[in-house]
Amino acid sequence: MINSSTYNYFNSQETPFYYYDMELLENSLISIKKEAAQYNYHVHYAIKANANPRILSLIQSYGFGADCVSGNEIKRSIENGFSTDKIVYAGVGKSDREIELALDSDIFCFNCESIPEIEVIEEIAKSKNKVANIALRINPNVNANTHHYITTGIAENKFGINPWEFEEILSILRKSKNLNLIGLHFHIGSQIVDLSVFKSLCIRINEIQDWFLDHQIIVDHINVGGGFGINYHQPDEEPIPDFKNYFALFKEFLNLKANQEVHFELGRSIVGQCGSLISRVLYVKKGINTKFAILDAGMTDLLRPALYQAFHKIENLSSNESPENYDVVGPICESSDCFGKAVSLPETKRNDLIAIRSAGAYGEVMASEYNLRKVATSFFSNDIK
Ligand code: LLP
Repeated sequence: MINSSTYNYFNSQETPFYYYDMELLENSLISIKKEAAQYNYHVHYAIKANANPRILSLIQSYGFGADCVSGNEIKRSIENGFSTDKIVYAGVGKSDREIELALDSDIFCFNCESIPEIEVIEEIAKSKNKVANIALRINPNVNANTHHYITTGIAENKFGINPWEFEEILSILRKSKNLNLIGLHFHIGSQIVDLSVFKSLCIRINEIQDWFLDHQIIVDHINVGGGFGINYHQPDEEPIPDFKNYFALFKEFLNLKANQEVHFELGRSIVGQCGSLISRVLYVKKGINTKFAILDAGMTDLLRPALYQAFHKIENLSSNESPENYDVVGPICESSDCFGKAVSLPETKRNDLIAIRSAGAYGEVMASEYNLRKVATSFFSNDIK
Protein backbone atom coordinates (compact mmCIF):
# COMPACT_ATOMS: atom_id res chain seq x y z
CA MET A 1 0.00 0.00 0.00
CA ILE A 2 2.76 2.49 0.84
CA ASN A 3 6.37 3.07 -0.19
CA SER A 4 9.35 3.51 2.13
CA SER A 5 9.32 7.32 2.14
CA THR A 6 5.66 7.30 3.17
CA TYR A 7 6.46 4.72 5.84
CA ASN A 8 9.29 6.89 7.16
CA TYR A 9 7.01 9.90 7.15
CA PHE A 10 4.37 7.98 9.11
CA ASN A 11 7.05 6.87 11.55
CA SER A 12 8.11 10.44 12.22
CA GLN A 13 4.57 11.60 13.10
CA GLU A 14 2.63 11.53 16.27
CA THR A 15 -0.10 8.86 16.03
CA PRO A 16 -2.96 8.31 15.53
CA PHE A 17 -3.72 10.24 12.36
CA TYR A 18 -5.80 9.97 9.21
CA TYR A 19 -3.90 9.53 5.98
CA TYR A 20 -5.56 10.32 2.66
CA ASP A 21 -4.33 8.97 -0.66
CA MET A 22 -5.22 11.98 -2.82
CA GLU A 23 -4.19 10.26 -6.07
CA LEU A 24 -6.71 7.53 -5.38
CA LEU A 25 -9.37 10.12 -4.60
CA GLU A 26 -8.56 11.95 -7.81
CA ASN A 27 -8.72 8.73 -9.86
CA SER A 28 -12.08 7.91 -8.30
CA LEU A 29 -13.37 11.38 -9.19
CA ILE A 30 -12.13 10.99 -12.78
CA SER A 31 -13.94 7.65 -13.05
CA ILE A 32 -17.22 9.01 -11.63
CA LYS A 33 -17.12 12.07 -13.82
CA LYS A 34 -16.50 10.02 -16.95
CA GLU A 35 -19.18 7.40 -16.24
CA ALA A 36 -21.83 9.88 -15.05
CA ALA A 37 -21.20 12.20 -18.02
CA GLN A 38 -22.27 9.48 -20.47
CA TYR A 39 -25.85 9.92 -19.28
CA ASN A 40 -25.67 13.57 -18.17
CA TYR A 41 -26.19 12.47 -14.57
CA HIS A 42 -25.62 15.01 -11.79
CA VAL A 43 -23.51 13.90 -8.82
CA HIS A 44 -23.74 15.59 -5.42
CA TYR A 45 -21.08 14.55 -2.95
CA ALA A 46 -22.58 13.60 0.44
CA ILE A 47 -20.60 15.92 2.72
CA LYS A 48 -21.49 13.84 5.76
CA ALA A 49 -19.07 11.11 4.64
CA ASN A 50 -16.00 13.31 5.00
CA ALA A 51 -16.02 17.07 5.46
CA ASN A 52 -12.26 17.62 5.56
CA PRO A 53 -11.64 20.90 3.65
CA ARG A 54 -8.80 19.46 1.53
CA ILE A 55 -11.04 16.59 0.44
CA LEU A 56 -13.93 18.95 -0.26
CA SER A 57 -11.95 21.34 -2.39
CA LEU A 58 -10.62 18.53 -4.56
CA ILE A 59 -14.11 17.07 -5.02
CA GLN A 60 -15.71 20.39 -5.93
CA SER A 61 -12.95 21.06 -8.47
CA TYR A 62 -14.48 18.21 -10.51
CA GLY A 63 -17.72 20.16 -10.75
CA PHE A 64 -19.77 17.98 -8.40
CA GLY A 65 -22.52 19.40 -6.25
CA ALA A 66 -22.99 18.89 -2.51
CA ASP A 67 -25.52 16.89 -0.54
CA CYS A 68 -25.89 18.44 2.92
CA VAL A 69 -27.79 17.46 6.04
CA SER A 70 -27.21 20.48 8.27
CA GLY A 71 -26.73 24.22 8.11
CA ASN A 72 -23.08 23.77 8.98
CA GLU A 73 -22.61 21.34 6.11
CA ILE A 74 -24.11 23.94 3.78
CA LYS A 75 -21.69 26.55 5.15
CA ARG A 76 -18.71 24.18 4.91
CA SER A 77 -19.52 23.23 1.34
CA ILE A 78 -19.86 26.87 0.26
CA GLU A 79 -16.59 27.78 2.05
CA ASN A 80 -14.83 25.06 0.08
CA GLY A 81 -16.05 26.12 -3.32
CA PHE A 82 -19.23 24.14 -4.00
CA SER A 83 -21.63 26.23 -5.98
CA THR A 84 -24.89 26.97 -4.17
CA ASP A 85 -27.03 26.08 -7.16
CA LYS A 86 -25.75 22.49 -6.86
CA ILE A 87 -26.51 22.07 -3.15
CA VAL A 88 -29.29 19.73 -2.05
CA TYR A 89 -30.36 19.71 1.57
CA ALA A 90 -31.95 16.67 3.28
CA GLY A 91 -32.61 15.73 6.90
CA VAL A 92 -35.66 14.89 9.02
CA GLY A 93 -35.04 17.67 11.52
CA LYS A 94 -34.18 20.91 9.75
CA SER A 95 -34.29 23.75 12.27
CA ASP A 96 -35.80 27.15 11.42
CA ARG A 97 -32.34 28.70 11.42
CA GLU A 98 -31.03 26.06 9.07
CA ILE A 99 -33.97 26.56 6.70
CA GLU A 100 -33.33 30.33 6.76
CA LEU A 101 -29.65 29.80 5.98
CA ALA A 102 -30.53 27.49 3.08
CA LEU A 103 -33.02 30.00 1.68
CA ASP A 104 -30.58 32.89 2.09
CA SER A 105 -27.92 30.83 0.31
CA ASP A 106 -30.26 30.11 -2.63
CA ILE A 107 -29.52 26.41 -2.60
CA PHE A 108 -30.76 24.24 -5.44
CA CYS A 109 -33.30 22.17 -3.53
CA PHE A 110 -34.69 21.10 -0.15
CA ASN A 111 -35.27 17.36 0.07
CA CYS A 112 -38.35 17.40 2.30
CA GLU A 113 -39.00 14.56 4.68
CA SER A 114 -42.42 15.30 6.23
CA ILE A 115 -45.63 17.34 5.93
CA PRO A 116 -44.86 19.55 8.98
CA GLU A 117 -41.45 20.33 7.50
CA ILE A 118 -43.02 21.35 4.17
CA GLU A 119 -45.37 23.68 6.06
CA VAL A 120 -42.52 25.32 7.96
CA ILE A 121 -40.43 25.82 4.81
CA GLU A 122 -43.47 27.42 3.17
CA GLU A 123 -43.95 29.76 6.15
CA ILE A 124 -40.29 30.82 6.32
CA ALA A 125 -40.02 31.23 2.54
CA LYS A 126 -43.15 33.39 2.61
CA SER A 127 -41.71 35.62 5.35
CA LYS A 128 -38.63 36.14 3.17
CA ASN A 129 -40.64 36.61 0.02
CA LYS A 130 -38.82 33.72 -1.59
CA VAL A 131 -39.76 30.59 -3.45
CA ALA A 132 -38.16 27.37 -2.16
CA ASN A 133 -37.42 24.58 -4.60
CA ILE A 134 -38.42 21.34 -2.99
CA ALA A 135 -38.20 17.65 -3.74
CA LEU A 136 -40.22 15.07 -1.83
CA ARG A 137 -38.04 12.52 -0.12
CA ILE A 138 -40.15 9.46 -0.65
CA ASN A 139 -39.87 6.33 1.36
CA PRO A 140 -40.05 3.69 -1.39
CA ASN A 141 -40.25 0.71 0.98
CA VAL A 142 -37.28 -1.07 -0.59
CA ASN A 143 -35.10 -3.16 1.69
CA ALA A 144 -31.47 -2.24 1.19
CA ASN A 145 -30.19 -5.54 2.67
CA THR A 146 -27.57 -3.71 4.67
CA HIS A 147 -26.88 -3.24 8.36
CA HIS A 148 -30.12 -2.34 10.17
CA TYR A 149 -28.56 0.86 11.50
CA ILE A 150 -27.89 2.18 8.00
CA THR A 151 -31.04 1.11 6.18
CA THR A 152 -33.47 3.96 5.64
CA GLY A 153 -35.96 3.05 2.91
CA ILE A 154 -38.40 0.70 4.64
CA ALA A 155 -41.89 1.82 5.66
CA GLU A 156 -41.59 2.30 9.43
CA ASN A 157 -38.67 4.64 9.45
CA LYS A 158 -38.10 8.21 10.52
CA PHE A 159 -36.90 9.11 7.02
CA GLY A 160 -39.01 10.21 4.10
CA ILE A 161 -42.65 10.60 3.15
CA ASN A 162 -44.95 7.61 2.70
CA PRO A 163 -47.16 7.27 -0.41
CA TRP A 164 -50.42 7.60 1.55
CA GLU A 165 -49.38 11.20 2.34
CA PHE A 166 -49.04 12.28 -1.32
CA GLU A 167 -52.64 13.54 -1.73
CA GLU A 168 -52.38 15.83 1.28
CA ILE A 169 -49.03 17.17 0.10
CA LEU A 170 -50.39 17.94 -3.35
CA SER A 171 -53.23 19.96 -1.86
CA ILE A 172 -50.73 21.95 0.27
CA LEU A 173 -48.61 22.57 -2.83
CA ARG A 174 -51.58 23.67 -4.91
CA LYS A 175 -52.32 26.41 -2.40
CA SER A 176 -48.72 27.49 -1.89
CA LYS A 177 -47.06 30.43 -3.64
CA ASN A 178 -43.69 29.91 -1.95
CA LEU A 179 -42.98 26.27 -2.72
CA ASN A 180 -41.96 24.94 -6.10
CA LEU A 181 -42.03 21.16 -6.47
CA ILE A 182 -39.10 20.29 -8.72
CA GLY A 183 -38.24 16.74 -7.82
CA LEU A 184 -38.66 13.37 -6.19
CA HIS A 185 -35.91 12.13 -3.94
CA PHE A 186 -35.05 8.64 -2.71
CA HIS A 187 -32.35 7.14 -0.53
CA ILE A 188 -32.73 3.61 0.77
CA GLY A 189 -29.58 3.01 2.80
CA SER A 190 -25.84 2.82 2.71
CA GLN A 191 -23.08 0.29 1.93
CA ILE A 192 -25.21 -1.46 -0.68
CA VAL A 193 -23.04 -3.85 -2.68
CA ASP A 194 -25.81 -5.90 -4.25
CA LEU A 195 -26.72 -3.90 -7.37
CA SER A 196 -30.08 -5.68 -7.68
CA VAL A 197 -31.24 -3.55 -4.73
CA PHE A 198 -30.85 -0.46 -6.95
CA LYS A 199 -32.83 -2.23 -9.67
CA SER A 200 -35.67 -2.69 -7.15
CA LEU A 201 -35.38 1.00 -6.31
CA CYS A 202 -35.70 1.96 -10.00
CA ILE A 203 -38.80 -0.22 -10.37
CA ARG A 204 -40.41 1.48 -7.35
CA ILE A 205 -39.47 4.93 -8.68
CA ASN A 206 -41.16 4.07 -11.98
CA GLU A 207 -44.36 3.08 -10.15
CA ILE A 208 -44.28 6.23 -8.02
CA GLN A 209 -43.73 8.36 -11.11
CA ASP A 210 -46.80 6.75 -12.64
CA TRP A 211 -48.86 7.79 -9.61
CA PHE A 212 -47.70 11.40 -10.04
CA LEU A 213 -48.37 11.27 -13.77
CA ASP A 214 -51.93 10.12 -13.04
CA HIS A 215 -52.19 13.32 -10.99
CA GLN A 216 -50.83 15.45 -13.87
CA ILE A 217 -47.44 15.96 -12.27
CA ILE A 218 -44.10 15.44 -13.97
CA VAL A 219 -41.17 16.73 -11.96
CA ASP A 220 -37.94 17.87 -13.60
CA HIS A 221 -35.56 16.05 -11.25
CA ILE A 222 -35.26 12.50 -9.98
CA ASN A 223 -32.74 12.12 -7.17
CA VAL A 224 -31.90 8.49 -6.45
CA GLY A 225 -29.71 9.21 -3.39
CA GLY A 226 -26.49 7.42 -2.60
CA GLY A 227 -25.64 4.19 -0.86
CA PHE A 228 -23.27 2.51 -3.31
CA GLY A 229 -20.95 0.32 -1.20
CA ILE A 230 -17.22 -0.39 -1.20
CA ASN A 231 -15.08 -3.50 -0.71
CA TYR A 232 -13.93 -3.33 2.91
CA HIS A 233 -12.42 -6.83 2.79
CA GLN A 234 -10.14 -6.27 -0.22
CA PRO A 235 -9.52 -2.54 -0.55
CA ASP A 236 -6.49 -3.00 -2.82
CA GLU A 237 -8.36 -5.27 -5.22
CA GLU A 238 -11.18 -2.79 -5.66
CA PRO A 239 -9.85 0.67 -4.80
CA ILE A 240 -12.37 2.33 -7.14
CA PRO A 241 -15.94 1.00 -7.07
CA ASP A 242 -17.50 -0.12 -10.34
CA PHE A 243 -19.17 3.17 -11.24
CA LYS A 244 -19.61 2.06 -14.85
CA ASN A 245 -22.08 -0.71 -13.98
CA TYR A 246 -23.65 1.34 -11.20
CA PHE A 247 -24.65 4.24 -13.47
CA ALA A 248 -25.52 1.87 -16.35
CA LEU A 249 -28.04 0.13 -14.11
CA PHE A 250 -29.99 3.35 -13.61
CA LYS A 251 -29.85 4.04 -17.32
CA GLU A 252 -31.31 0.60 -17.98
CA PHE A 253 -34.05 0.43 -15.36
CA LEU A 254 -35.16 3.99 -14.61
CA ASN A 255 -37.99 5.11 -16.92
CA LEU A 256 -37.53 8.82 -17.34
CA LYS A 257 -40.10 11.24 -18.68
CA ALA A 258 -39.04 13.81 -21.28
CA ASN A 259 -36.38 16.26 -20.03
CA GLN A 260 -36.06 14.69 -16.60
CA GLU A 261 -32.63 14.94 -15.02
CA VAL A 262 -31.15 12.36 -12.66
CA HIS A 263 -29.20 13.18 -9.52
CA PHE A 264 -27.04 11.02 -7.26
CA GLU A 265 -25.77 11.65 -3.73
CA LEU A 266 -22.64 9.57 -3.33
CA GLY A 267 -20.56 9.60 -0.16
CA ARG A 268 -18.79 6.41 0.82
CA SER A 269 -18.08 5.24 -2.73
CA ILE A 270 -16.20 8.50 -3.43
CA VAL A 271 -14.04 8.83 -0.32
CA GLY A 272 -14.16 5.48 1.49
CA GLN A 273 -11.06 3.81 0.07
CA CYS A 274 -8.76 6.84 0.03
CA GLY A 275 -8.47 7.11 3.83
CA SER A 276 -6.64 5.02 6.41
CA LEU A 277 -6.36 5.49 10.13
CA ILE A 278 -2.69 5.13 11.08
CA SER A 279 -1.93 4.13 14.62
CA ARG A 280 0.82 2.63 16.75
CA VAL A 281 0.82 -0.41 18.97
CA LEU A 282 1.16 0.65 22.58
CA TYR A 283 1.24 -2.80 24.15
CA VAL A 284 0.81 -6.43 23.28
CA LYS A 285 -0.96 -8.02 26.20
CA LYS A 286 -1.51 -11.72 26.83
CA GLY A 287 -5.09 -12.69 27.75
CA ILE A 288 -6.29 -16.18 28.63
CA ASN A 289 -6.89 -17.49 25.12
CA THR A 290 -6.00 -14.49 23.05
CA LYS A 291 -3.40 -11.79 22.62
CA PHE A 292 -4.47 -8.16 22.56
CA ALA A 293 -2.75 -5.62 20.36
CA ILE A 294 -3.60 -2.37 22.14
CA LEU A 295 -3.46 0.62 19.78
CA ASP A 296 -3.22 4.33 20.45
CA ALA A 297 -6.26 4.79 18.16
CA GLY A 298 -9.68 3.96 19.49
CA MET A 299 -13.40 4.20 18.83
CA THR A 300 -13.12 7.96 19.31
CA ASP A 301 -11.07 8.08 16.09
CA LEU A 302 -13.04 5.48 14.11
CA LEU A 303 -16.45 4.58 15.51
CA ARG A 304 -17.75 2.23 12.82
CA PRO A 305 -16.49 -1.10 14.28
CA ALA A 306 -17.92 -0.28 17.73
CA LEU A 307 -21.20 1.15 16.43
CA TYR A 308 -22.05 -1.18 13.55
CA GLN A 309 -19.70 -4.13 14.10
CA ALA A 310 -18.22 -2.93 10.81
CA PHE A 311 -15.27 -4.76 9.31
CA HIS A 312 -12.15 -2.74 8.42
CA LYS A 313 -9.03 -4.44 7.11
CA ILE A 314 -6.16 -4.07 9.58
CA GLU A 315 -2.52 -4.20 8.49
CA ASN A 316 0.76 -4.14 10.37
CA LEU A 317 3.02 -1.85 8.31
CA SER A 318 6.15 -2.61 10.37
CA SER A 319 6.41 -6.39 10.56
CA ASN A 320 7.07 -9.24 8.12
CA GLU A 321 7.16 -11.95 10.76
CA SER A 322 4.94 -15.01 10.64
CA PRO A 323 1.24 -14.42 11.32
CA GLU A 324 -0.50 -14.72 14.66
CA ASN A 325 -3.98 -13.86 15.85
CA TYR A 326 -4.71 -10.71 17.85
CA ASP A 327 -7.72 -8.94 19.19
CA VAL A 328 -6.99 -5.41 18.01
CA VAL A 329 -8.37 -2.93 20.53
CA GLY A 330 -8.18 0.74 21.44
CA PRO A 331 -7.44 2.48 24.74
CA ILE A 332 -10.96 3.74 25.52
CA CYS A 333 -12.75 2.58 28.66
CA GLU A 334 -15.44 0.65 26.76
CA SER A 335 -15.46 -3.05 25.88
CA SER A 336 -16.85 -2.17 22.45
CA ASP A 337 -13.62 -0.29 21.71
CA CYS A 338 -12.44 -3.12 19.50
CA PHE A 339 -11.34 -2.89 15.84
CA GLY A 340 -11.31 -6.62 15.18
CA LYS A 341 -11.22 -9.99 16.93
CA ALA A 342 -8.78 -12.79 16.06
CA VAL A 343 -7.17 -10.66 13.37
CA SER A 344 -4.28 -12.39 11.65
CA LEU A 345 -1.27 -10.06 11.66
CA PRO A 346 2.46 -10.64 11.28
CA GLU A 347 3.93 -10.96 14.76
CA THR A 348 3.24 -7.60 16.33
CA LYS A 349 5.29 -5.61 18.84
CA ARG A 350 5.13 -2.35 20.72
CA ASN A 351 5.57 0.68 18.40
CA ASP A 352 4.62 -1.15 15.20
CA LEU A 353 2.59 1.02 12.84
CA ILE A 354 -0.91 -0.25 12.12
CA ALA A 355 -3.14 0.86 9.23
CA ILE A 356 -6.91 0.54 9.52
CA ARG A 357 -8.07 0.67 5.94
CA SER A 358 -11.12 2.02 4.09
CA ALA A 359 -11.61 4.70 6.73
CA GLY A 360 -12.10 7.67 4.38
CA ALA A 361 -15.89 7.68 4.79
CA TYR A 362 -17.62 8.13 8.15
CA GLY A 363 -14.25 8.03 9.92
CA GLU A 364 -12.81 11.43 10.72
CA VAL A 365 -16.27 13.07 10.69
CA MET A 366 -17.60 10.74 13.37
CA ALA A 367 -14.65 11.28 15.74
CA SER A 368 -15.31 12.46 19.28
CA GLU A 369 -13.36 13.72 22.28
CA TYR A 370 -14.72 11.07 24.64
CA ASN A 371 -12.21 10.35 27.42
CA LEU A 372 -10.96 13.86 26.57
CA ARG A 373 -8.93 12.51 23.74
CA LYS A 374 -7.41 14.76 21.13
CA VAL A 375 -9.10 14.45 17.74
CA ALA A 376 -6.67 12.82 15.28
CA THR A 377 -5.02 15.09 12.71
CA SER A 378 -4.83 14.31 9.02
CA PHE A 379 -2.09 14.05 6.39
CA PHE A 380 -2.35 13.93 2.63
CA SER A 381 -0.29 11.88 0.19
CA ASN A 382 0.43 14.91 -2.00
CA ASP A 383 2.20 16.64 0.92
CA ILE A 384 4.67 13.78 1.38
CA LYS A 385 7.78 14.16 -0.76
N1 LLP B 1 -28.14 10.75 0.77
C1 LLP B 1 -28.80 10.62 1.94
C2 LLP B 1 -30.13 11.18 2.07
C3 LLP B 1 -28.19 9.93 3.02
O1 LLP B 1 -28.84 9.80 4.16
C4 LLP B 1 -26.88 9.39 2.86
C5 LLP B 1 -26.21 8.71 3.95
C6 LLP B 1 -26.23 9.57 1.62
C7 LLP B 1 -26.90 10.25 0.60
C8 LLP B 1 -24.85 9.06 1.34
O2 LLP B 1 -24.80 7.68 1.42
P1 LLP B 1 -23.48 6.88 0.98
O3 LLP B 1 -23.30 7.05 -0.51
O4 LLP B 1 -22.32 7.41 1.73
O5 LLP B 1 -23.79 5.48 1.37
N2 LLP B 1 -22.30 6.34 9.31
C9 LLP B 1 -22.76 5.20 8.54
C10 LLP B 1 -23.40 5.62 7.24
C11 LLP B 1 -24.57 6.55 7.42
C12 LLP B 1 -25.14 6.99 6.10
C13 LLP B 1 -26.14 8.06 6.29
N3 LLP B 1 -26.74 8.54 5.10
C14 LLP B 1 -21.56 4.29 8.31
O6 LLP B 1 -20.49 4.58 8.80
O7 LLP B 1 -21.71 3.26 7.65
